[in-house]
Amino acid sequence: MNKDWIRSTCRDLQLYYNPKVGNKLRMDTSTNALGANPAGQRELMECTKLNVGQYPNTYGDNLRDELAKLYGMSSNNFVVGNGSDEALDIIMKTLVEPGETVLTAHPAYVLHSFFVKINAGRTVTVDLDDDFQLDVDKINSTPGKLVLLCTPNNPTANTFRKDDLKAVIEGADRPVVVDEAYGEYTGDSFLPLVNKYDNLIVTRTFSKAYGLAGMRIGYMAAGLEMAEALQKVKIPYSLNVIGERVAIAALRDREFLDRSVRVVNEERPFLSKGLSDLGFQVFPSEANYILFRPDLPSDVLTAKLSEKGVLVRDFGKVRRLENCIRTTIGTREMNTVLLDKMREVLRECR
Ligand SMILES: Cc1ncc(COP(=O)(O)O)c(C=O)c1O
Repeated sequence: MNKDWIRSTCRDLQLYYNPKVGNKLRMDTSTNALGANPAGQRELMECTKLNVGQYPNTYGDNLRDELAKLYGMSSNNFVVGNGSDEALDIIMKTLVEPGETVLTAHPAYVLHSFFVKINAGRTVTVDLDDDFQLDVDKINSTPGKLVLLCTPNNPTANTFRKDDLKAVIEGADRPVVVDEAYGEYTGDSFLPLVNKYDNLIVTRTFSKAYGLAGMRIGYMAAGLEMAEALQKVKIPYSLNVIGERVAIAALRDREFLDRSVRVVNEERPFLSKGLSDLGFQVFPSEANYILFRPDLPSDVLTAKLSEKGVLVRDFGKVRRLENCIRTTIGTREMNTVLLDKMREVLRECR
């Protein structure tokens, strides 16, 4: 095939993380350790009666109405779609001209730069400091069309200081995207500020604390003018009729959400201590995952855990995360399995 047929910005892409999962215990994707959202799962069964011969509502209006109720805002503040990844893609398509730069932090969510690249933008990264906090002055003095940051940050697991994020939002006349994929675990959000700051866009997801990763549902909120501009770019019908129904059921089930957050808060100290007792460096976490640095090669530990049936995510080749691994915070049972398997690997390797 002639390589010139492929758009130049898409020629050197790598395929995304795609492990052989089988029956392995997944602690590599920072999803909900309690499993699928029960209310969502029940609604899914009801959906067998739906007439799927018709298109869904063009813009997922029922879900937007439900989100508006939850946040006490207008439905027109919200854009819903196929995972918050779609929201990030829409943002790039709407705001970034080919060749323009997007500022992201380093290290941060791998797909941030992917969405910039596939939309013909260029990523410029500003390094986080030694505590993985924002370098506000550097960000505000670096040119770029928009700023994209996630808090809690993935994979470092810390949140950014609220005042720092505010200083970035207020610091330059350009859009700032705050990716809150793990926001439910912090109990805090920039989302209610979108009517105050017309340059703020906040993305959120049903994939993590809501326990619906397989359904692919996400949303973003912005001021009314910005939200309308984003809505016009979104592929109509990208949220399917089942996804919308299931998301609404999950939004109404606050008990599962609260329990999911509680379990993470209860298990975080147990898993952190377990990892540091093994002699690993453990970074502070405010999310449902932990970043740690083992004292054996991260790729060896990851591969051996996989052989023993547990998947974790190796970030060891990423600059600033040398030899680091990220694991989801599981239930006590999952965390115990993970730590036991790690002990086995250490006995074999040390
Ligand atoms: C920081 C961050 N943002 C966005 C996403 C995308 O989530 P989804 O497309 O499942 O909503 C993820 C998924 O891992 C993430 O870690």
